[in-house]
Amino acid sequence: MRIRSEIIGCGSYLPERVMSNAELSTMIDTTDEWIVGRTGIKQRHLAADGELTSDLALKAAERAIAHAGISAAEVDLLILATTTPDNTFPATATKVQTKLGMTNGAAFDIQAVCSGFVYGLAVADNFIKAGQAKTVVLIGAETFSRILDWEDRSTCVLFGDGAGAVVLRAGEKIPDASPGEVGHNRGRGVLSTHLHSDGATNDLLYVDGGPSSTQTVGHVRMDGKGVFRHAVANLASIVIETLEANGLAPEDIDWLVPHQANKRILDSTARKLGLPNDKVVVTVDRHANTSAASIPLALDEAVRDGRIKQGDLILMEAMGGGLTWGAGLVRW
Ligand code: ACO
Repeated sequence: MRIRSEIIGCGSYLPERVMSNAELSTMIDTTDEWIVGRTGIKQRHLAADGELTSDLALKAAERAIAHAGISAAEVDLLILATTTPDNTFPATATKVQTKLGMTNGAAFDIQAVCSGFVYGLAVADNFIKAGQAKTVVLIGAETFSRILDWEDRSTCVLFGDGAGAVVLRAGEKIPDASPGEVGHNRGRGVLSTHLHSDGATNDLLYVDGGPSSTQTVGHVRMDGKGVFRHAVANLASIVIETLEANGLAPEDIDWLVPHQANKRILDSTARKLGLPNDKVVVTVDRHANTSAASIPLALDEAVRDGRIKQGDLILMEAMGGGLTWGAGLVRW
């Protein structure tokens, strides 16, 4: 017998302040036409002065817990995926833990940049499958605006702030089944997760600061074309790996909920899968790239507006600095 983890609730939060491309073009040498044409981004949300990653994370987590209909006291593990923690230490997750009123278990941060949510999903799922946690809050939260070089037009137009969260819970024990066996991919829950990284590509996307290297926070630096090329290739291979591991074909997917980096990357992945655009949840136009927060933000939107329904098969995928990339397949 084995345990499957089920997603029983989701929530998200976006800071109030919206910055349009038009406003950006008053600050740097750019245009709405350039940004929309290259990325599909029309606007982004920005955290207010004094509004921290933990504040965004807390609001998203509270909404996910309310949606799940549980109390924070039931949560025995909190995982926060972020690249923009409040402080170098302690883990921002521990702040959120206390503010939520969670008194049991453990809380920690994980860092896989834009792949943070799928990395967190794998960690949460494995804790539940191993019997080490029963109810997990997984949050992706970022204040990426704080690590942008606002004079570098090739990066500052791409990112935004936000947070999204899910609650995972250990489901009923189900009989063991091997991949390929009829019915092994039926039933609710996380069907599989797949992670990769390749440190040889560190220099394509990184922050030029940090406690051990410069003792400064630093700013995002990126080889845009290099990242784009790797994203298209790595995301195509990870979705194929995920489908093959589950004995499924692209047409079995009800919703692709991808990391929202760039509309052209989303379109390329959908095209390679042969998925029509209306099966792809897109928020990049309104949220820009919110790194680890983008998948749970998109997921929450599609659940709340009724697109995602119980029984739907959802494929999530992401790539980010590292490079890191991964995917998770979930039956809602
Ligand atoms: N406004 C106007 N012009 C600009 C801007 C801007 N904001 N930024 C760059 N340009 C100019 C460049 O200076 C260059 O001008 P030049 O030809 O005179 O030198 C020209 O536009 C073309 O620049 P490129 O960098 O070659 O543009 P490209 O077509 O590669 O598009 C982009 C850039 C949008 C960043 C693209 O490479 C991309 O999307 N890469 C993926 C990056 C990404 O998504 N990163 C997020 C993190 S990783 C992830 O989440 C998957």
